[in-house]
Amino acid sequence: MAAVAAPDLQPPLHGAVVGLGMIGRHHARILQGLDRVRFAGAVDPDGDRYGALRDPGDRFDSVDALLAAGRLDFAVVAVPTEEHLPVVRTLAEGGVSVLIEKPLAATAGQGRAIADLVRRTGVHAAVGHVERYNPALLELRRRVQDGQLGQVFLIATERLGPFPDRIRDVGVVKDLATHDLDLVRWLGGAPVERVAAQTQHRMGREHEDLVLATGRLESAVSFNCVVDWLSPTKVRRTRILGERGMLVADTLTADLTFFANGDTTSEWAASQSLRGVSEGDMTRYALARREPLLVELEAFRDLLLGDAGALVVTVDEGLDTVLCAEAVLASASSGETVALEPGAAPSPT
Ligand SMILES: NC(=O)c1ccc[n+]([C@@H]2O[C@H](COP(=O)([O-])OP(=O)(O)OC[C@H]3O[C@@H](n4cnc5c(N)ncnc54)[C@H](O)[C@@H]3O)[C@@H](O)[C@H]2O)c1
Repeated sequence: MAAVAAPDLQPPLHGAVVGLGMIGRHHARILQGLDRVRFAGAVDPDGDRYGALRDPGDRFDSVDALLAAGRLDFAVVAVPTEEHLPVVRTLAEGGVSVLIEKPLAATAGQGRAIADLVRRTGVHAAVGHVERYNPALLELRRRVQDGQLGQVFLIATERLGPFPDRIRDVGVVKDLATHDLDLVRWLGGAPVERVAAQTQHRMGREHEDLVLATGRLESAVSFNCVVDWLSPTKVRRTRILGERGMLVADTLTADLTFFANGDTTSEWAASQSLRGVSEGDMTRYALARREPLLVELEAFRDLLLGDAGALVVTVDEGLDTVLCAEAVLASASSGETVALEPGAAPSPT
């Protein structure tokens, strides 16, 4: 069926949150004060556990009750990942645009159903890959695109920490490593060509709690992601290595550091047979630190208000990330390297 054009919307936009859990409470906090947006309420049948709402009367028990309450232009879908599809269906069929928390869906099949719904109903939709709005990663990407590192060899991420007990429906690959699988493609500017992965199950849950995923982008850049729920401290690190040095982003502190290659004047470097890298200057950049979730919501609002250049993560990109996550799981279970075709199910090489 042909896509329907998204409607023209006028400010203030009426926006709501569905799911007032760990992340939904932050969306609600921001939406209650966001410029050119009027807060239309929040849906959670379990109540407002974190006290996110200024007015308790803004809470609804169901999406249908929210829809019946008045004008609604968009909603943030912040329910558990398995619930994204039914909630998006009700909203999109009601003509409401959706910012869907990451990952887009728990399976590629559910992700494709969401993409079809969005096309059929003509609503605006985006995926909440919030790391893309982290100031350190935005600056890292800008510097790489400006050629600071020269040719890029490797993108490596680490996302470690203790298990957040609330997650029941997916494992660490779909819950956490989807951040990394999105980032390596966004930072590297190319799709994943192939991936080889290992997982571990150490906590006795149905799903994996540690993953190592190593692969290659279509641009021939290598990537490596280490992600777990088993570490006693939280680490969020992305580094890009290139011919002129290395940029390292810490997304917990929003710090970005450049380690330049030194001038290679040592005897070792002067030898005919060896060409190595030496240590050069280290620079930590001063960055303006805006809250990533606020920047994400502003971008989605601007898209709805007609800014076609607003930096949002599309549903197709979100679907590609779920496909990459399924390729990672397929590789971990088969022991084979898995090749990805854009938009298609992964197949073992
Ligand atoms: N972008 C990020 O960094 C980030 C961080 C955390 C979670 N998330 C994503 O956000 C989503 C929610 O995760 P969470 O950690 O906030 O989960 P959570 O369990 O803390 O909260 C989910 C909330 O949704 C409510 N809910 C369940 N079904 C509902 C329905 N049909 N209608 C309305 N409310 C419903 C639950 O009562 C609960 O309060 C997941 O997709 C997760 O992957 C993203």
